[in-house]
Amino acid sequence: MSTYFVRTFGCQMNKHDSERIAGLLEADGMTAARSPEEADVIVFNTCCVRENADERLYGQVASLKAIKTGGRPEVLIAVGGCIGQRDGALLQKQLPHVDVVFGTHNIEALPELLEAARQGRSGVQILDEGHTFASDLPSRREHSWHAWLSITVGCDNFCTYCIVPYVRGRERSRPIEDVVAEAQALVDDGVVEITLLGQNVNSYGRDLYGAPRFADVLRAVATTGVQRIRFATSHPKDLSDDTIRAMAETPEVCNYLHLPVQSGSNRTLAAMNRVYTREHYLDLVSRLRTAIPGLALSTDVIVGFPGETEEDFEDTLDLFKQVGYHQSFTFIYSPREGTPAASLPGAVPRAISQERFDRLIEVVQSSAAAGHRDLLGTTQRILITGHSKRDSSMLTGRTESNKVVHIPATGTSDVEPGKFLDVHIQEAQTWFLLGYPVS
Ligand code: SAH
Ligand code: SF4
Ligand code: F3S
Repeated sequence: MSTYFVRTFGCQMNKHDSERIAGLLEADGMTAARSPEEADVIVFNTCCVRENADERLYGQVASLKAIKTGGRPEVLIAVGGCIGQRDGALLQKQLPHVDVVFGTHNIEALPELLEAARQGRSGVQILDEGHTFASDLPSRREHSWHAWLSITVGCDNFCTYCIVPYVRGRERSRPIEDVVAEAQALVDDGVVEITLLGQNVNSYGRDLYGAPRFADVLRAVATTGVQRIRFATSHPKDLSDDTIRAMAETPEVCNYLHLPVQSGSNRTLAAMNRVYTREHYLDLVSRLRTAIPGLALSTDVIVGFPGETEEDFEDTLDLFKQVGYHQSFTFIYSPREGTPAASLPGAVPRAISQERFDRLIEVVQSSAAAGHRDLLGTTQRILITGHSKRDSSMLTGRTESNKVVHIPATGTSDVEPGKFLDVHIQEAQTWFLLGYPVS
């Protein structure tokens, strides 16, 4: 029986797509290999949101050339995802030992494309638009207790720095009946936590005659018996009062929100085409915090956007101090060919971007630590996710607010990933908490 290995880069959409790629290959009779070196088919599910993601793919594919030239010429290398979508057949010119190229709209074609390549025909196919949602395809979930569920695909926002709308296509919402049916099937299969996915979940339904909207999806998914609902990503311009109400009123919806701000400067936000101001964002945060007790916030932010001055950056620093994020995904601006920002003047020198990056991280460290200290002495229900990566004598779990908690594994032999446990929080560190089970 032949074997496969999938290497995933990029965001949660890609993680979800990779579960579907694995599901499709298993439905085609293949089994998972432990490493690329042992696999007959190696699939790269790629990302091109920043330049270093591109470079990593080229490096890794090149290093696999040795497998083929070293005595296993029958091994097939497939490249899919966002770089596949962007580069298509060009990829094979640059990396001649790639056999199959597919894109973000035709994951389901992978088994056929592999077969075509085996028979010496072209294994390249890129489509401009998709017809399926990843969640409709067979799946091999990474965890039995957690599932991704895509409610929208694509993006219509065209933030000026971002390649995603060009490689994921126009925004499309999945009918709510299909979303709920999928959620119900997952719960019946033992899933306790569902993460709803879309580049901008808050605009769900805009293309479906204007209703139902995202708040309705939250309420409907909660009726399936799922215990925790998370979602990503929220665009601040589309987060409605009804969504805040649904988050506040629906106990299954976690008190955690990833709300990318990208910049705290109105001038930069306008140049990024984000369509909100820092005042709007701060007001939104204050309404969210009033409605949802204990809400933890995380964000994405870009430093060194073209034309960003020290003053602009200080606005970002100030906003970060006001919000007090629990976590931030901080990026140095990376020009992406074909996006409007790539031709803007005012490139920020790397050393200045790096210095701003470091200053921002310091602020996040201090707010993350403060957020953890707030939980000292409390009892938190955690969902066990596995053994600690650094110390196998510890189990790791997450609070509803998405904070990482480590507890000793001893005496908890009946506790396994996917189970809930009440723990007493004993120690707070910058990036995690330590606790012990409440007996
Ligand atoms: N749809 C999501 C995620 C988009 S990509 C959202 O809107 O939040 C994830 C993050 O990558 C973005 O939020 C942004 O912070 C970052 N990013 C996107 N393009 C980038 C670029 N050209 N340079 C640096 N960071 C970028
Ligand atoms: Fe990119 Fe903006 Fe769409 Fe997010 S909302 S995927 S940052 S264009
Ligand atoms: Fe990357 Fe594509 Fe996601 S470019 S961030 S994998 S949508």
